[in-house]
Amino acid sequence: MSLIEAAFRFLCLLVLLGSGFPASNYTVSHEYCVLGAGPAGLQMGYFLSKSQRDYIILERNDGPGSFFDMPDLLFQRMTRELYPSADDFPRYLSMFVKELGLKVKYGTDVGRITAADINGNQGYVLTDQTGVSYQCSVLLVSTGLWVPQQVNFQGSDLVEGYESIPTDPEVFRDQSVLILGKGNSAFETAQSILGRASRIHLYSPSPVRLAWQTHYVGDLRLEDIAIVHRAREEGKQRRAKKGHQAALKGNEPLYLTLSELLEEQSGKNISGQNLPSYHTDNFSLRQPYDRVIRCLGFSFNFSIFDGSARPPQSTGARGRLPAVTAWYEGRGTPNMFVLGTAAHSRDYRISAGGFVHGFRYTVRAVHKILEQRYHNIAWPATKFPVTQLLPWILRRVNEASGTYQMFGVLGDVILLRGSHCEYLEEFPLQALPQLHVLSGLPISDQGLLVLIMQYGLNQTDTLGPGRAESEWTKAWKSKFLHPVLYYYNTVPTEKNMRQRPVGWPLPRPDALHHMVEDFLTEWDQPISHTQPLRRFLEHCLGADLRAFYAESCFLLSLTSRAPPIFCRQGYLRKQGIVGNHHLWKHARDAGLMEDHQGDSEPGDDASLPKFLKQTGGVVMSMMNYELFDLTQNLMEPKT
Ligand SMILES: Cc1cc2nc3c(=O)[nH]c(=O)nc-3n(C[C@H](O)[C@H](O)[C@H](O)COP(=O)(O)OP(=O)(O)OC[C@H]3O[C@@H](n4cnc5c(N)ncnc54)[C@H](O)[C@@H]3O)c2cc1C
Ligand SMILES: *[C@@H]1O[C@H](CO)[C@@H](O)[C@H](O)[C@H]1NC(C)=O
Ligand SMILES: *[C@@H]1O[C@H](CO)[C@@H](O)[C@H](O)[C@H]1NC(C)=O
Ligand SMILES: *[C@@H]1O[C@H](CO)[C@@H](O)[C@H](O)[C@H]1NC(C)=O
Ligand SMILES: *[C@@H]1O[C@H](CO)[C@@H](O)[C@H](O)[C@H]1NC(C)=O
Ligand SMILES: *[C@@H]1O[C@H](CO)[C@@H](O)[C@H](O)[C@H]1NC(C)=O
Repeated sequence: MSLIEAAFRFLCLLVLLGSGFPASNYTVSHEYCVLGAGPAGLQMGYFLSKSQRDYIILERNDGPGSFFDMPDLLFQRMTRELYPSADDFPRYLSMFVKELGLKVKYGTDVGRITAADINGNQGYVLTDQTGVSYQCSVLLVSTGLWVPQQVNFQGSDLVEGYESIPTDPEVFRDQSVLILGKGNSAFETAQSILGRASRIHLYSPSPVRLAWQTHYVGDLRLEDIAIVHRAREEGKQRRAKKGHQAALKGNEPLYLTLSELLEEQSGKNISGQNLPSYHTDNFSLRQPYDRVIRCLGFSFNFSIFDGSARPPQSTGARGRLPAVTAWYEGRGTPNMFVLGTAAHSRDYRISAGGFVHGFRYTVRAVHKILEQRYHNIAWPATKFPVTQLLPWILRRVNEASGTYQMFGVLGDVILLRGSHCEYLEEFPLQALPQLHVLSGLPISDQGLLVLIMQYGLNQTDTLGPGRAESEWTKAWKSKFLHPVLYYYNTVPTEKNMRQRPVGWPLPRPDALHHMVEDFLTEWDQPISHTQPLRRFLEHCLGADLRAFYAESCFLLSLTSRAPPIFCRQGYLRKQGIVGNHHLWKHARDAGLMEDHQGDSEPGDDASLPKFLKQTGGVVMSMMNYELFDLTQNLMEPKT
């Protein structure tokens, strides 16, 4: 390190420590820059800190989770009323930052991002409001959605924005209010002024969609826009336009009509009386409003990106979000990943990726991909004999939260390797064709299974009669969230993925198994759940997965050319049961067992789940639920 560089680093360090140096133009370098300290950015910071990476989180505000802490936003006040715990969210995030010692630099408003060559790879330079630059090999954008959705039509300047309306509901007393949009923010706004306003109407061309019908938490969103037009009542003097607030103070009523009706008019001289609807006494919008409020949601701020670094707009979600690959890298912006609610274009109107309870799992998946790509650390995979596959799958379908919250988006991948398999948790399904590159794991030609949670393809009335399927033979008709296993002989290609049937999360597999939907979401019953699953696995693996007692193994080994795999792995190799290394070593050291290495040696200790290690071996049988129930507490806590 040269003297200059050392001095430079020292300077950067001082500034990072907040030593109060005057702002000047200099550059700080980090391997990872996380932009935005909302829940997504902090979650990523946590993983980067845990894996001891060189990172910095940049945040324009002076605390984390500012979205939930904006006094101007109605959201906060409303959430307090609707969901009592949301109020504690910023405080919780602050604690999260402090407790974990995350490196967050507050008061850093990044206004420009440019692409730059860093050691031959595309990196990014972020410039903040004081002119300080941050050079990053990998940029993780978790800036959320802050740009209010605008609409342009005649009179749209008279519309107030959700982000700027008064938070005191008293202001709305006896006013007649029209809200554009029928989404969450529209309903929150309506709820907050209910009882004060004399009239509240919600307007949008698309019908209200209810989340419990569509299984989409973000539902209730405006698809298109109504046309608002302001007209004066007869007798009022034409006033100079002073913005809509002035107009409101003047109590000038706002009329609303449809643009198609308006086009028939000259459009120049419109008054209350010559509105197209004036003489139609059954026109539903014939009465004026005191205020029109736009609650049309927010979009990603593309303006902070220079042309060289700007991800394209998503094709879905009305282009409000950046377009990202299945592994959340910006399209055309290598080494820049998008996280959090801004990454929702992948599963817009499909799953929970736009919400904290969903994207926390995608953030974790992206971190695993970063570890592989930049540090050559393969996706964590658990290796175990296929005879353990059934209880593993049962445990996952009953306990895993990532696959459950991010249904249809994240799924477990099981690489079959003969008598063993490797189990990968919560892989982004759409990235399956890139499995090898993203996970760093070798792909064999022995097939793979993908375990996902999904809803039935047919829309249904969730509260209507005949809504659920309870017979396992008709599991494929399940409508509510249920586990589905896809078996492929080989990893699907990108082409397979593109050509998958409409509405399917994955291409048509070589074999498919639905586990029948369960009212209690507990898939643990012998007849309805485990037996059909075992048969399916046996079909895919071409092996008998039943567990046997020693007597049965003895009998089968005498009567069958190919005794069941359970007997081959344990009994026939004189181990009685499938052991682990400790047990083997002990047995060998004690001279109880021949010291020979077979083709199906059990995985090493690290590959065995904790609870199995503690039992010192594996007893696999359909009757073994007590074992798995008892040991649930030993599982890693879900994060
Ligand atoms: C009315 C309403 C209700 C909602 N209800 C829920 C709910 O119940 N549950 C739920 O999960 N979600 C809800 N959401 C969505 C919620 O906003 C997101 O889930 C969550 O805040 C997204 O987290 P994030 O980390 O992606 O982004 P944010 O929380 O928006 O965090 C982004 C951070 O980046 C910072 N930032 C942005 N740009 C820059 C820049 N240029 N330089 C520096 N810093 C920058 C911001 O200051 C902010 O702190 C709701 C949204 C609305 C509008
Ligand atoms: C979007 O980014 C631009 C450029 O940095 C900035 O001027 C603007 O204020 C941002 N908009 C919002 C709503 O944050
Ligand atoms: C430092 O940065 C500021 C803000 O970007 C800019 O106005 C100023 O010209 C810069 N000064 C130098 C010496 O580059
Ligand atoms: C506009 O309409 C009003 C009421 O219909 C009428 O009195 C006035 O003359 C019109 N002005 C013009 C310029 O057409
Ligand atoms: C209003 O009434 C007329 C007949 O009086 C009818 O033709 C028209 O369809 C009605 N419009 C609406 C929106 O109901
Ligand atoms: C979906 O609905 C169609 C028409 O009602 C029906 O024919 C089909 O069997 C249904 N599919 C499932 C999986 O229930």
